[in-house]
Amino acid sequence: MKPVKVGVLGLGTVGGGTVNVLKRNAQEISRRAGREIMITHASARDLTRERICDTQGITLSTDPYEIINDPEIEIVLELMGGTDLAKELVLQAIANGKHIVTANKALIALHGNEIFAAASKANVMVAYEAAVAGGIPIIKTIREGLSGNQVNWLAGIINGTGNFILTEMRDKGRDFADVLTEAQALGYAEADPTFDVEGIDAGHKLMILASIAFGIPLQFENVYTEGITKITRADVEYAGELGYRIKHLGIARKTANGIELRVHPTLIPERRLIANVDGVMNAILVQADAVGPTLYYGAGAGSEATASAVIADVVDVVRALALDAQNRVPYLGFQESEINNLPI
Ligand code: NDP
Ligand code: HSE
Repeated sequence: MKPVKVGVLGLGTVGGGTVNVLKRNAQEISRRAGREIMITHASARDLTRERICDTQGITLSTDPYEIINDPEIEIVLELMGGTDLAKELVLQAIANGKHIVTANKALIALHGNEIFAAASKANVMVAYEAAVAGGIPIIKTIREGLSGNQVNWLAGIINGTGNFILTEMRDKGRDFADVLTEAQALGYAEADPTFDVEGIDAGHKLMILASIAFGIPLQFENVYTEGITKITRADVEYAGELGYRIKHLGIARKTANGIELRVHPTLIPERRLIANVDGVMNAILVQADAVGPTLYYGAGAGSEATASAVIADVVDVVRALALDAQNRVPYLGFQESEINNLPI
């Protein structure tokens, strides 16, 4: 069978990591997908920049339209971030019949409804596992692993940068700004780190998780968001003296009046598992009616951890290409028929 040709928009932390892991584990990945997967093209703004990946064998361009308009490319990985150009490119790629894999939570949280509708119309798949909690396969878990359950609530640490900052402030007494600079250097932070520290990134992710857990459309404007910028070292120390840790949580809960969605710093008793999730690690606790509580833990950001989720989506898409188009819809987010009219 012919290899599947993949084009990558963005060769930064996530795009570079994806190229690295796909090259390193090419044999295993192709065996699992049932076809060879080849990254043939990639785009970035500045082609003179040193890359974290080996781009040998990949045609590079500064023009992302060359990728989305290339008839040979079947899957486009949107790993550039932002919501304006990314949305335009994703919609155009969908109109051109390409399947999309993205790590862009802002894009999905703000424009997912429109993107999913376009994808349904064009009979293509949109997958976004990497958009929430980096390498933890939480979207697949809620959508597939918990599909026999009613989810009552979920709560978790879903921003790696924020958790890294709070952990370093507590353990090493470091300054907020200093740790944020390190998180940026490590590639954890968003292009605009305000998204991390003001809770916007966690809000995007919470909205995406809630759309899958509760079958509701994406409505980011209804998420209450509060960040960690007002937390001082003294707050962290006092919390410790009282037997608590400050963690920034995203919480989605079914109530009699609809779905409550909020992100904010929270005091958690230090004996709780989630209070001991440190550094860039994320953890999500899901309370569902049949299985009870389940907890998912792993790296919430970073190059190869996120690439792991991107590649899992690529493998899913490639496998689904062997199915009839009607059987491919599980790769989208909520389905209209599932909407249970729970207002937010
Ligand atoms: P980076 O800034 O490291 O990489 C972005 C890439 O996109 C760069 O290669 C950049 O080109 C390219 N790019 C950006 N804007 C444009 C543009 N206007 N035209 C053409 N190319 C462009 O970002 P990340 O890899 O960290 O993040 C990418 C996406 O993944 C974001 O949506 C982010 O939210 C998401 N994400 C990130 C995670 C992480 O740990 N970093 C984890 C999970 C999701 P150039 O290199 O030339 O500047
Ligand atoms: N900036 C994000 C974080 C990247 O720190 O969690 C992963 O989504």
